[in-house]
Amino acid sequence: MTAAAVAIEQKPSREILFEVRDLRVHFPGPSGSVRAVDGVDLDLYSGETVALVGESGCGKSTLARALVGLSPITRGSVRFRGEALDFKSRARLRPVRRAVQLVFQDPYASLNPRLTVRATLAEAISLHQELDARGVERAIAELLESVGLDPTLADRYPHEFSGGQRQRISVARALAVRPSLILCDEVTSALDVSVQAQILELLKSLQQRLGVAYLFVTHDLGLVRYIAQRVLVMYLGQLVEVRDSEQLFTDPAHPYTRALIGSSPRVGRAGLAGRGLVSGEVPSPLRPPSGCRFHPRCPDRFDRCPREMPELYPLPAGGASRCFLSDPAEK
Ligand SMILES: Nc1ncnc2c1ncn2[C@@H]1O[C@H](COP(=O)(O)OP(=O)(O)OP(=O)(O)O)[C@@H](O)[C@H]1O
Ligand SMILES: [Mg+2]
Repeated sequence: MTAAAVAIEQKPSREILFEVRDLRVHFPGPSGSVRAVDGVDLDLYSGETVALVGESGCGKSTLARALVGLSPITRGSVRFRGEALDFKSRARLRPVRRAVQLVFQDPYASLNPRLTVRATLAEAISLHQELDARGVERAIAELLESVGLDPTLADRYPHEFSGGQRQRISVARALAVRPSLILCDEVTSALDVSVQAQILELLKSLQQRLGVAYLFVTHDLGLVRYIAQRVLVMYLGQLVEVRDSEQLFTDPAHPYTRALIGSSPRVGRAGLAGRGLVSGEVPSPLRPPSGCRFHPRCPDRFDRCPREMPELYPLPAGGASRCFLSDPAEK
């Protein structure tokens, strides 16, 4: 193994990467503010794989992007490795922007079509280390090999690759700066199922080798079950359930989580299938419902639900649920 490969080999540990407290991202508009993220508390650890799930428009991408200052933060704080981020200073955000790399659904949107793979990777490598020409060449070849691409393809342009290969190139570029966290926003939803599986396999094996953490933003509960250790369920700007993945699928606590799982044929468990999908439309984030935001659609609601906002109550088995049914005072 070469020196460069050894250097990026690191042991996974449970060091805390991000501490998010009461985070709010409100987008002002003509008819009021869209409360895209509305009071999120969250810790992310190094080396872990976390999935962020919820229906379209619930604020997943806005929350994920807020970690690196790509969403305008209205209130709340984000600490990265113990240090409070100052979102007003681009210079001071530089280290976190490097440590967190983004990989998107459509690599076309993130890869420069005018740059060869070699130029794209060389640019990324130069961001974090100074190497001579031969060193850069070697690093490029290693990166391509690590994502399962033939280094002899380095002189081609993005359009000369398949969708799955392009996604591998974006992963290679993300790895080039040796990130602590890779944020994957719907990375596989544009790919065929078999190519999806290959990319997920690749991400898993890279994690074992490099100890990088992942935050997967996704609609796909099948993917969550396959890859995530921990799951965050989001509804109308808030986290409503935070659980270990195994527990979430075998014993979901929040009625919304149960409905999501029950409406996903690939992962639904027999007892939940009859619950059908989440009924009704998602209410507008301009005017979220009073009390529990899920109450208008909740099959288990009772008198307290429209009146009070539930907290994220810790669950006896670990994790937390924002539902009065998990409030110890209700027992
Ligand atoms: N730049 C913006 N300006 C105004 N409103 C925005 C902006 N970005 C997002 N929103 C609104 O914030 C809410 C959350 O959007 P977000 O993209 O975070 O949802 P999402 O959960 O990622 O959805 P999807 O699963 O469809 O990607 C939506 O109502 C969206 O319209
Ligand atoms: Mg999104």
